[in-house]
Amino acid sequence: MKRDFLALADFATAELIEILDLGAQLKRELKSGQRTTLLAGKTLAMIFEKPSLRTRVTFQVGMTQLGGYAVYLTPADIRLGERESVADIARNLDRLVDFIMARTMRHESQLELARYASAPVINGLSDLLHPCQVLSDCFTVRERRGALDNQKVAFLGDGNNMANSWISAAARFGFHFALACPKGYEPNAAILAAARADGAQVTVTHDPAEALAEADIAYTDVWASMGQEDEAEERKEIFAPFQLNTAAMKKAKKDALVMHCLPAHRGEEVTDEIIEGPASIVFDQAENRLHVQKAVLVWLNNQMTRG
Ligand code: CP
Ligand code: NVA
Repeated sequence: MKRDFLALADFATAELIEILDLGAQLKRELKSGQRTTLLAGKTLAMIFEKPSLRTRVTFQVGMTQLGGYAVYLTPADIRLGERESVADIARNLDRLVDFIMARTMRHESQLELARYASAPVINGLSDLLHPCQVLSDCFTVRERRGALDNQKVAFLGDGNNMANSWISAAARFGFHFALACPKGYEPNAAILAAARADGAQVTVTHDPAEALAEADIAYTDVWASMGQEDEAEERKEIFAPFQLNTAAMKKAKKDALVMHCLPAHRGEEVTDEIIEGPASIVFDQAENRLHVQKAVLVWLNNQMTRG
């Protein structure tokens, strides 16, 4: 059966754990020089409406390592919904490739691609969610801490695609997620309500100290996401009290780790001192995108052959 990877909320906890375990196995195998060809001859189309370093490279390298091939489509190549409708793009690619990964402006484009393609669609970031990033961040936390459910993750910043995906992850993995955001920058209300109905322990506050209290992980993301560049100056003032800096880190546990999905704007959401400091694990996070997304691809491929 075809499954898409659009939102963590679409998956049961056991399924996400299967993907994390598979990611750990693929990482071990790669590090020990073993190569698998689990996706030999398979092809992934990568649609990008926004720029990318990590998502593009990890998916492309991941497909190559698994014996497959990735086709990169730039924003200018297909102009989603402009040169051609999303539905037509989905139905064309569907005849040609085995998987579609898309980074889109609108989350609705993800849903439409998934509706019209019989190939699995993977959300490589939308305005609403960034499930690949947050699942690999959960992998990184589990790798460091051995478990997820005993962790408190504090997120300072915008109630954006990253925060929304963290909220859904909290519902599946049982950790405490505490978001400190400015008034007016709260996360998606429907995602928050659904996660809480599923038993998620989520705090939303406007006080960074409250979110950071007893935190095991301190997480942040850019203040102006891709597509919000014209709000960047205004946001710099609004978000200034939410900077992850040395004073803020004193509120968290002594051994708290610092995480950021990258790219980072040093001197804005995080200081140079903190992101370059010993608690920072941002490049582990970036690397783990590779292992976890390979696991997502293999897992989705396995689902296709199941009834
Ligand atoms: N974190 C992340 O998704 O990075 P890119 O925007 O470079 O893909
Ligand atoms: N919130 C950021 C995440 C980048 C990986 C953005 O959407 O630009």
